[in-house]
Amino acid sequence: MLGIETSCDETAAAVVDSDRHILSNVVHSQIAAHTPYGGVVPEIAARAHLEYLDAVVSRALADAGVGLQQVGGIAATGGPGLIGGVIVGVMTAKAIAASAGKPFVAVNHLEAHALTARLTAPADAPLEFPYLLLLVSGGHCQLLDVEGVGRYRRLGTTIDDAAGEAFDKAAALLGLGFPGGPALERAAAKGDPARFSLPRPMLGRPNADFSFSGLKTALRQMTAEHKLDEQTKADLAASFQAAITASLVDRTRRAIDMFEERHGLGRPLVVAGGVAANTAIRAALAELAAKRGMELAVPPIGLCTDNAAMVAWAGIERLSIGPADTLDFAPRPRWPLDQASAAAGAKA
Ligand code: KG4
Ligand code: ZN
Repeated sequence: MLGIETSCDETAAAVVDSDRHILSNVVHSQIAAHTPYGGVVPEIAARAHLEYLDAVVSRALADAGVGLQQVGGIAATGGPGLIGGVIVGVMTAKAIAASAGKPFVAVNHLEAHALTARLTAPADAPLEFPYLLLLVSGGHCQLLDVEGVGRYRRLGTTIDDAAGEAFDKAAALLGLGFPGGPALERAAAKGDPARFSLPRPMLGRPNADFSFSGLKTALRQMTAEHKLDEQTKADLAASFQAAITASLVDRTRRAIDMFEERHGLGRPLVVAGGVAANTAIRAALAELAAKRGMELAVPPIGLCTDNAAMVAWAGIERLSIGPADTLDFAPRPRWPLDQASAAAGAKA
């Protein structure tokens, strides 16, 4: 399966086979193009996808050593995401599928993240359904009950910012640069998390939802009240990271309760998305999982962040249980994974 990913600021293509081998995985990051603006600019992203995608697809096929006639289908992210980029990926995939006479699969980007851990699980320990997924990236912050391919129950979501977005905004407030997550983590390593007391958003709430905008406001206030020397910045970064970590752990704990009511004890906890790169967050989640008798699975970080191998794999999983999509599929800026949240008009 050839996979194509263009929903945010990575132009990516990959070839994956149904025995879970990643034959190629090409990611062209646009970070440099967006850095001057301190965040992803949708129009710049769409134009860059258009400029690079053909070359990225050719590289992916060449790296895999296969021609188009040898692939079983073309899967592209059909949403949710920045619509200009999604259109570029979907149109390209449809054109290739039509000219090569191959099936086309429109993949939900969230589903691709959700199924990645099945692609990367060790050969002797495949990841079976159901499992609980914490998806934490710049664009998404959700807790999902993954019951099967196409069968997802959203247990919690953010009511404002995603966790990665909160890291990016906090790093900007502290003048640490973009992308903010890694920069903030580096600063936090030199800081004292106890010097400043920041709120723990949503702690103890009965649902499993997230909220980070209040935390960001509290941080902004503190940056206004203190002189931002290097140590103060590090201490604020450490406090902020501790607050986010505590909130993610508390919300995940709540989701585990909800998940266990339906599926019983001892199913795996999977973490995906760019924020899973954060060492403190991984450690805290590992501790939580151990306490609850769950195995923690975190795909390799290059497959936690946006990539096309996950899209190709989701295409394989989808085709294994149902038909391909037709060429009249319309790219979707919003595409909630579960029917209940779709009906409630959820964003993604
Ligand atoms: O999954 P991803 O590459 O892109 C999407 O948003 O889909 O995630 C990027 C996000 C950014 O917000 C970035 O700041 C955050 O993940 N991130 C981190 C770390 N590395 C990346 N956040 C906290 N700590 C990190 N080490
Ligand atoms: Zn993503």
